[in-house]
Amino acid sequence: HLSVKERIEEKREAALVGGGRKRIEAQHERGKLTARERVELLLDPESFVETDMFVEHRCSDFGMEQYRNKFPGDSVVTGRGRISGRLVYVFSQDFTVFGGSLSGAHAQKICKIMDQAMTVGAPVIGLNDSGGARIQEGVESLAGYADIFLRNVLASGVVPQISLIMGPCAGGAVYSPALTDFTFMVKDTSYLFITGPDVVKSVTNEDVTQEELGGAKTHTTVSGVAHRAFENDVEALLNLREFFNFLPLNNQDPTPIRECHDPSNRLVKSLDTIVPFESTKAYDMLDIIHAIVDERDFFEIMPTYAKNIVVGFARMNGRTVGIVGNQPKVASGCLDINSSVKGARFVRFCDAFNIPIITFVDVPGFLPGTAQEYGGIIRHGAKLLYAFAEATVPKITIITRKAYGGAYDVMSSKHLRGDVNYAWPTAEVAVMGAKGAVQIIFRGKENQAKAEAEYVEKFANPFPAAVRGFVDDIIEPATTRKKICSDLEMLASKKQVNPWKKHANIPL
Ligand code: COA
Repeated sequence: HLSVKERIEEKREAALVGGGRKRIEAQHERGKLTARERVELLLDPESFVETDMFVEHRCSDFGMEQYRNKFPGDSVVTGRGRISGRLVYVFSQDFTVFGGSLSGAHAQKICKIMDQAMTVGAPVIGLNDSGGARIQEGVESLAGYADIFLRNVLASGVVPQISLIMGPCAGGAVYSPALTDFTFMVKDTSYLFITGPDVVKSVTNEDVTQEELGGAKTHTTVSGVAHRAFENDVEALLNLREFFNFLPLNNQDPTPIRECHDPSNRLVKSLDTIVPFESTKAYDMLDIIHAIVDERDFFEIMPTYAKNIVVGFARMNGRTVGIVGNQPKVASGCLDINSSVKGARFVRFCDAFNIPIITFVDVPGFLPGTAQEYGGIIRHGAKLLYAFAEATVPKITIITRKAYGGAYDVMSSKHLRGDVNYAWPTAEVAVMGAKGAVQIIFRGKENQAKAEAEYVEKFANPFPAAVRGFVDDIIEPATTRKKICSDLEMLASKKQVNPWKKHANIPL
């Protein structure tokens, strides 16, 4: 017989080794870290405070009640800690215990830290590595998922929620990451799908591998389910720390300000010549973004999906900002279904968490075609329009070149309550490009060339917008950083509220 003190020690030690040495080795052989190793890497040293190390599953079917089937802490490690000194809650699923599968007890542990994160106002990070519902527990496990989903939804827009997929995540399990603000994946070792390759084969007769169906590449290039993928566990966790530093702790918290060594009045000479003279020629919007933000530090979100729009986080004079930019290098920067949805979700995250939005506009319009129309570009394009319109955070817009048609309105225009709207001298704000315009309004008439020249003279410049006050100023590109930093300073006290509503009804 052991004393209570000895039993406590024994349980703690057992919890630390999860499913045991052999399973830990198997985990390492797959190139994966254990649940605890991941938590250690993610959090500041010594900052992890664990909860529920003694919790065990309560299943007594299929021999689960036997001593050898009980693991203190069950299949998830939970608690709180710090990243760069700032509070965060974390759960890390332990694949060495029943494949990280979700028991009632496992779910209860996650819910407990989510509830506390909400009461104190701190983000939640989930490290997912799980074989799904604990099969031996049946509906108990399904109830556990729903308890988590509900909390994901209630926490949405209150505290940032981030998921990092570091192993399997299948079936009902996928919906918790899907409800969180950002989902990152580890290449080659993680996958997300509703049903695996075997079920797919039996239902649709498709042959597909696990990797093709739900690997990191699929979700960061084809489906848009995940926001970034990283090479391995270590790189993913270190990047997650960097990412976390951009975020406020909750929706009442001001955006974090980091000490900045990049002068806010720095002139960026390269920008004066970055936009090609020929308006059909491409350039890289990322060059503009990198040159303008603090220390060229830009954390891009969805860099490999819908590349015709660029979104991500950066800092201006130390203050976190969200950046949205059309990308002339890809599909001429046209807006389409995927880029609209990508942009809208990003803008809404920024607005929910008080992060100012800087928008760089070079957009020739929405992408034409049956694929887009049948796919519902009207409904999806409306999301981006809606998101910019409802946003009450500071909004600064720079038209670098084209701002054509409805897309001009959408891209954080003055009309959607843009606080500061600039045009570069290369800006062209018009209903459409000169060629198309002349073909319509002078159809069949002679002297098309003359008409086109007249259209260019009238519209292919910033004046039509500037004389109406739709842009506040025409600025030298080199001064853009300086102007934005100064405007953000002024807008720091911005207060704007939308009319009362239970919740809005964004077109979905
Ligand atoms: N419930 C209970 N135990 C589970 C489990 C689950 N959902 N998923 C995995 N496990 C257990 C396995 O029995 C095994 O136990 P052991 O270490 O005592 O042998 C351990 O976790 C590891 O699983 P294993 O199948 O050996 O790992 P793998 O890497 O070869 O495969 C999965 C991983 C996730 C693909 C596979 O375990 C699987 O298909 N699980 C079921 C997924 C599912 O359909 N879940 C329900 C839908 S929500």
